[in-house]
Amino acid sequence: MKDQVVLTGIKPTGVLHLGNWAGAIRPAVELSHKSGLKAYFFIADYHALISSKSPDKLREYTYGAAATWIALGLDPSQVVFYRQSDIPEVFELNWILACFSPKGLMNRAHAYKMQMQNNPTIDVNMGLYAYPILMAADILIMNSNWVPVGSDQQQHVEITRDLAHRFNRQYHTEVFTLPEALMSLAGVVIPGLDGRKMSKSYDNTIPIFAPPEQLRKLIFHITTNSSGIHDRKDEETSTIFQLYQLFSTPEQMEVLKIQYQTGIAWGDAKEGLYSLLEAQLREPREHYETLMKDPQELERVLREGASQAREVASKTLERVRHTLGIRR
Ligand code: TRP
Repeated sequence: MKDQVVLTGIKPTGVLHLGNWAGAIRPAVELSHKSGLKAYFFIADYHALISSKSPDKLREYTYGAAATWIALGLDPSQVVFYRQSDIPEVFELNWILACFSPKGLMNRAHAYKMQMQNNPTIDVNMGLYAYPILMAADILIMNSNWVPVGSDQQQHVEITRDLAHRFNRQYHTEVFTLPEALMSLAGVVIPGLDGRKMSKSYDNTIPIFAPPEQLRKLIFHITTNSSGIHDRKDEETSTIFQLYQLFSTPEQMEVLKIQYQTGIAWGDAKEGLYSLLEAQLREPREHYETLMKDPQELERVLREGASQAREVASKTLERVRHTLGIRR
């Protein structure tokens, strides 16, 4: 049987944080080690352009994202790892799909809708409006079966399915594979420093590769309630508990549970979370720092990935053009 294709992208708009690691990077990397799967992971740099207009930042975050994935276990000899902007075929398919995208469907896409609700006076660029179409091109060009994403991206994968289906129906073909979203932490909210969802837009994140002192300092900034050392502590409302749960073994978790019942000082709980994370991040952080000092090597890896990705992309595009009546 042919390998199933799993594909995911990450938008380089900031420094990656623990929420990105537990929610997106870690599950995708685990999946990439499974047999019977062909994995395509990429940096969606042209998606970032809808909001990010600083050349230095865009470059830095793109290399930062690439180095982060590799440092956290992505093996570029097993996964086709590339940068979206290196695949021109994606942008041709983007236009083609735009011609099959009802405007009404884009009106309902959540990123655009939220922008209109929160801040209708600021300009919405066409990139934001058409965001789901470019994402559909990313997904369909590699014939993806599975798309691991956070729950905020589920709607975009459904739009992709819808567009693929419309196209197939129009031409009575099966040119496009219908993808499905894979959500490993569905329903789990990863809390940030203030207890709200960890997110760049709330400015409450813990960067994955913060230096040890900064990591510790941030963890000590996590909001806690006023219960004293000997008070029984509530697990559900404790950010420390929830973060601990994401990164610990079941045995480590048992110990913390007992401490929450019998009493623990918040300072000790924070120290525990810091040690837990530092033990897992020390080596990857070193790897990350080495990679960041050598952008040429990152460039080489990404280009090598792009050349493999283009082999698949150009074949898909050939089939699509033929279907449309563009070229023989
Ligand atoms: N939109 C995704 C995000 O914001 C990134 C992305 C771009 C993506 N293209 C994709 C994810 C294709 C999965 C598949 O994180």
